[in-house]
Amino acid sequence: MKHLVIGGAGYIGGVCVEKLIERGDAVVVLDHLGTGHRENVHPNAIFIQGEKGDSKLLDKIFSEHKIDTVLDFAGLIQVGESVKKPSKYFQNNFCQGVSLLDSMRRNGVDKIIFSSTAAVFGNPKTVPITEEADKSPINPYGESKYFFELAIKRYAEAYDLKYTIFRYFNACGATIMSKEQHINESHLIPLIFQAVKGERANIAVFGTDYETTDGTCIRDYVHIEDLISAHLAAIKYMEKSFRNEFNLGNGSGYSVKEVINAVEKITGKKVPVVFADRREGDPARLIASSEKAKKELGWSPKYPKIEQIIESAWSAELR
Ligand SMILES: NC(=O)c1ccc[n+]([C@@H]2O[C@H](COP(=O)([O-])OP(=O)(O)OC[C@H]3O[C@@H](n4cnc5c(N)ncnc54)[C@H](O)[C@@H]3O)[C@@H](O)[C@H]2O)c1
Repeated sequence: MKHLVIGGAGYIGGVCVEKLIERGDAVVVLDHLGTGHRENVHPNAIFIQGEKGDSKLLDKIFSEHKIDTVLDFAGLIQVGESVKKPSKYFQNNFCQGVSLLDSMRRNGVDKIIFSSTAAVFGNPKTVPITEEADKSPINPYGESKYFFELAIKRYAEAYDLKYTIFRYFNACGATIMSKEQHINESHLIPLIFQAVKGERANIAVFGTDYETTDGTCIRDYVHIEDLISAHLAAIKYMEKSFRNEFNLGNGSGYSVKEVINAVEKITGKKVPVVFADRREGDPARLIASSEKAKKELGWSPKYPKIEQIIESAWSAELR
């Protein structure tokens, strides 16, 4: 089987390429390298630099390669930037996505797996968050991903597109080949590592008066290998089930303080912390219900403990 992985030079897409190749599938990677890294791409993958909304390029790729499934990891992911530059986010995450769907239609490629996000839920009314929970994103990043989810569903109804939408909570951890290295990092674990290594003065904890066990926000952390194992299962599952959506998380969360404590335990180093006011729009608890993925895909996380996740991420830092 041959797949097109768009955004395969990024953190999550890069691991997907690695795992697909490990199991013997062929992979074509399309990435504009705006936020990705060429060295993230497995040497056995075919790499093409370009935009996912470039129709001519997509026509060429689809005519030269018999693609079974398109896996779309290509997104801009900075919530703060999306508020300042909504045009960039809607163009990249939504408009280019629609062009991709049209290129797929023109070329008879009918399966897509799309990386969506917990941000489509906004401030959820109840946790754990199920797939049926209200979608009410509160920033252009979440909206751009949600609009593309809606487009995928409409294309499925009208043109028989087969899809799996995954909504990730917090992807983290590393593999032997890849580690988390976003440009303008905004994710908690790599930011704490930067503080531990003296690359930033400290880590700011926003809000200590939430209604949680220790007053700090609780989030759901999923090891990158677990995220990708769900994608591999979905490729198979889509042979018999054509319209799927799953939330992917551990189903239990960790507070910011718990994550910091775990980093201190594993690195043996003190994390310099400053406590700050709450940030606007940060819900107290964001935890996924992954019951549906467990039941339908037979998926379950192999690395559910925060210590396992941090251990793998820290060993990648030391390599
Ligand atoms: N990292 C997380 O915790 C998380 C959580 C929820 C959802 N997601 C989603 O997962 C996906 C991957 O996230 P990531 O953490 O690997 O980010 P990343 O920035 O490391 O990877 C994204 C990759 O896509 C490429 N790209 C972006 N737009 C493109 C375009 N128009 N054409 C071609 N290439 C393009 C970038 O160059 C980069 O290599 C994103 O769509 C994101 O919304 C990530």
